[in-house]
Amino acid sequence: MNDSNKNITHDEKIKILTELKKVCSQCSKCELSKGRTNIVFSDGNPDAKIMLIGEAPGHNEDVRGVPFVGRAGQLLDTFLQEHNISRKDDIYICNTVKCRPPENRVPKPDEKKACRKYLDAQIKLVKPEIILLCGSTAVQSFLDTKLTISKIRGQWFENENGIKMMPIFHPSYLLRNHSLEENSPRWLMHKDLENIKSELRKLC
Ligand code: URA
Repeated sequence: MNDSNKNITHDEKIKILTELKKVCSQCSKCELSKGRTNIVFSDGNPDAKIMLIGEAPGHNEDVRGVPFVGRAGQLLDTFLQEHNISRKDDIYICNTVKCRPPENRVPKPDEKKACRKYLDAQIKLVKPEIILLCGSTAVQSFLDTKLTISKIRGQWFENENGIKMMPIFHPSYLLRNHSLEENSPRWLMHKDLENIKSELRKLC
C-alpha cells in the first residue's frame, strides 16, 4: 500500500479493510496460523481517532474472532466507559498478531514480524491521531526502548508520521492489581486515560 490512500473515501477504506481481513484469514505466514479458530482482525470504529494495540488474542478472542472480549477485555471496557470513551465509536482495537499463540504465550519476534504488514496497513488506513500501546509486547513492537511498562506508561511519543503514541498498562496486569490507591496501577491507568481524553479534546 502506498500514500495514495490519503484521500480515499470512507467506503473505499471499509472495502480495503474488508479485503485485508480476508487476506489475513487465509494467511499462513507463521506457526500461529496452524492453531487458530479465527483470525482476530479488529473491533471498534475504523474512523476513530484512537487506535489501541494489544498483545495477542486469547481463548475467547480466538473463538469469537474479536479482540479483547475475555476478562481483560471486560476490564478494558469498564475503564473506557468510566472515561466516556465508546468502544464502538471512539476507538479501533487490534493486536500485534492476529492469531492466538498457544497457551497464551507472548508472540515471538518472527510471528510479530510476519503479522506486522497487516497491522501497518490498518494504521495507514485508519489513520489514528493517537495510538495506545497496551502492554509491553505492543510497546516493544513500536518503541525502541528497554524501559519497563511501569517506567514508560503515560508518556507521549511520536512516530515518523506524527502519530502520538502512549504506552498504557495491559488490562491483564490490572486484573491482578485491584488497588485504587494513589500511584497504584489502576489509579495510574485512570490518570493516563484522563491525559488521553484531554489530548483528544485538543484534536477536536
Ligand atoms: N489480550 C490482548 O492483548 N489482546 C486481546 O485481544 C485479548 C487479550
